[in-house]
Amino acid sequence: MKVLLVKDYDEMSEKGYELIKEIIETKEEPVISMTTGGTPRGIFKLLVEDIHNGLDISHTTIMNLDEYIGPRNAVYTVRTFMYKNLYDLINVQPKNIFLIDGATEDIKKETNRYKEILQQYGRDIQILGLGTNGHIGANEPGTPFDSTMFLAEHTEATIQSTMKEYNIERNDTPTQMLTLGFTEILEAKKVVLLVSGKHKAKAVKDLLEGEITPDCPASVLRDCENAIVIIDEEAASLLEKTNYL
Ligand code: PGA
Repeated sequence: MKVLLVKDYDEMSEKGYELIKEIIETKEEPVISMTTGGTPRGIFKLLVEDIHNGLDISHTTIMNLDEYIGPRNAVYTVRTFMYKNLYDLINVQPKNIFLIDGATEDIKKETNRYKEILQQYGRDIQILGLGTNGHIGANEPGTPFDSTMFLAEHTEATIQSTMKEYNIERNDTPTQMLTLGFTEILEAKKVVLLVSGKHKAKAVKDLLEGEITPDCPASVLRDCENAIVIIDEEAASLLEKTNYL
């Protein structure tokens, strides 16, 4: 895993976006898998800006890492986020848009459908955010490192983050997500984890200086040659070792 330390949220977004842009500009049939939430908002802004300035995404496939279980148009869904932050803001759409259906009544069928898409469209890049508890996707602490796409139960820490991110009450907050497992996450050609803010500092310390263990899900990336983690100064503030500074 490569570690890139940057100054702040804006620089993290720029560096993350550069990796995506390079793929869009150089591959014939780029496949980008995004995450949602507070972390990638800056990246989406940069992408929309560039599309307005002529970046061509008509040959690009865009998909997602996970989806909350709940009504498709709920304020918190990945689908809502993707339309609000990308698809509704651009005139030329990507070649393919793939989303997991979190309103499905048949989880198994939906899982198989999405797994087939993953097989068919090898991802050039998988963007990830880091949970305050170290989760990636909805692979919460304790999830075995050989997990494959599954229906995950959120921990309390994750439920609290969702409430805060979408400004919603506990009763309206989803508690389950269909998520790619570690297996599918690591199958992407490049895996990019983005981390910003003091509230992520403990998770970053566990990720880089703790053991490689399912108790810190993101630590699975440490031994991964195709992984890059981009960390801002606040998120790096608890690190003791200096070899990545
Ligand atoms: P955030 O969430 O980007 O809203 O901080 C990260 C995550 O939980 O994956």
